[in-house]
Amino acid sequence: MPTEPKTIFIAGEWSGAQSRASLEVRSPIDGEIFAAISRGGKAEIDRAVAAARAALSGPWTTMAGFERGRIMSKLSALILDNTEELAQLEARDTGKPISQARTDIKATARYFEFYAGAADKVLGDVLPFLDGYQVTVQREARGVCGLIIPWNYPASMFGRTIGPALATGNTVVLKPAEDASMSCARLTALAHQAGLPPGVINLVTGLGEEAGAALSQHTDVDFLSFTGSPEVGTLIQTEAAKNHVPCVLELGGKSPQIVFEDADFEAAAKTIVSVITQNAGQTCSAGSRVLIQRSIYDRFVAVLREKMTEVRVGAPAADLQCGPVINRAQQVKVKGFIERATSDGINVIAQGTLDKSAVATGYFITPTLFGPVPVKHELAQDEVFGPVLAAIPFEDEAEAIAIANGTAYGLVAGLWTENGARQMRVAKKLRVGQVFINNYGAGGGIELPFGGVKRSGHGREKGLEALKEYTVAKTVVLKHG
Ligand code: NAI
Ligand code: MG
Repeated sequence: MPTEPKTIFIAGEWSGAQSRASLEVRSPIDGEIFAAISRGGKAEIDRAVAAARAALSGPWTTMAGFERGRIMSKLSALILDNTEELAQLEARDTGKPISQARTDIKATARYFEFYAGAADKVLGDVLPFLDGYQVTVQREARGVCGLIIPWNYPASMFGRTIGPALATGNTVVLKPAEDASMSCARLTALAHQAGLPPGVINLVTGLGEEAGAALSQHTDVDFLSFTGSPEVGTLIQTEAAKNHVPCVLELGGKSPQIVFEDADFEAAAKTIVSVITQNAGQTCSAGSRVLIQRSIYDRFVAVLREKMTEVRVGAPAADLQCGPVINRAQQVKVKGFIERATSDGINVIAQGTLDKSAVATGYFITPTLFGPVPVKHELAQDEVFGPVLAAIPFEDEAEAIAIANGTAYGLVAGLWTENGARQMRVAKKLRVGQVFINNYGAGGGIELPFGGVKRSGHGREKGLEALKEYTVAKTVVLKHG
């Protein structure tokens, strides 16, 4: 390793870990080490939280909302100016096809654009009360926000969490995933360049069980946001409860795409295959189950087969539909699902193809469509987080709803039908946070409130809804009569 990395940013200064420890960064494209990050832990989290606390007594808190918004607009513009560099870095770090990486960086800029515009529109209420009283409800910043994000969309998760936090006047400590921290470090530098006062944004790279755990256990944090696995979500929530800290958790899903007999086959099949292979299936809202009405099962599966067969997998630079998964462990996990389904006798309907740019040492997976998958099988119940799609037949609307709601998760659902009454009926009965009808946006739409129920987590990110999570209501009762 050439020089000690300095990827920790606290109170406006870059540093390495106090222990001088670092972590190697491997690219999923070839499994080779291409960089290093600092291995921050409790000491760095303590310093970062103290810096974020101190910044709440500085100019950030007295600044008008529009001034915060201007800094955020500048950050948005800087991100757009550096799109190509950030996209190349993101593609190398996560393995995603370069077009996808560019889309992600533009989404990151869009988050800051959207929330910059919201910074001077965090409105309160005036309430009717007794005669002679004036009651206002004001929305105040929570304070220090601890943000723990995953490796699947690091740059856009940076925008999704920090955007609403800054718009509402909070300060933040970000702990990116050890598997993909590079774009977050670059974005933090751009945020500083945009003019954020020191201590408003602090970044601590490191391991989940070290830096992440220290952040979730910290007694001087006012709010926690976590996106990742349900298992770690439980840990975060347990730690937060000990300190009575509120949290938002986004923990993935087993989102159904429900295809009725009157659906537009071509549009449905194209979108369904595209969103399960997007980001190699490593998207919390990936539609990983396709529920197909039995009367059209064979005909629709034929169209899906054609689309899945066309999917090509390779290196980011080849810019195909699908890249590698994030690391060796994820590759082993996804392959395990494929092997168990195969040995359980579940039929493989179609597979994508590996392009010559997919080198053997990279973490590639061949996208696979299985079906029919029994509803109790793990492939129909558990999150694979890879390009694996399970086809499941259903008889009628009632059975479609029962199967759709019949997992531990509840994040997103896709509905494919031209029947307007059915669209409304089914959308109402699905226990999820988002329903897409005749379209599906895995991860897309900065404006759209997003989050789950059940094992998918709680709280809402994105859109104006996120502003409520990052603020707390204060009721002021004035007697003037
Ligand atoms: P993870 O949940 O361990 O990692 C997510 C983030 O949590 C990372 O920043 C990590 O450093 C941090 N973390 C890990 N342990 C922690 C702890 N004890 N305290 C505080 N923070 C901690 O996810 P992992 O291990 O990378 O992936 C495992 C599975 O989780 C995947 O196969 C997938 O099924 C699911 N996952 C879901 C995501 C989603 O978008 N909902 C994102 C990433 C993973
Ligand atoms: Mg983990």
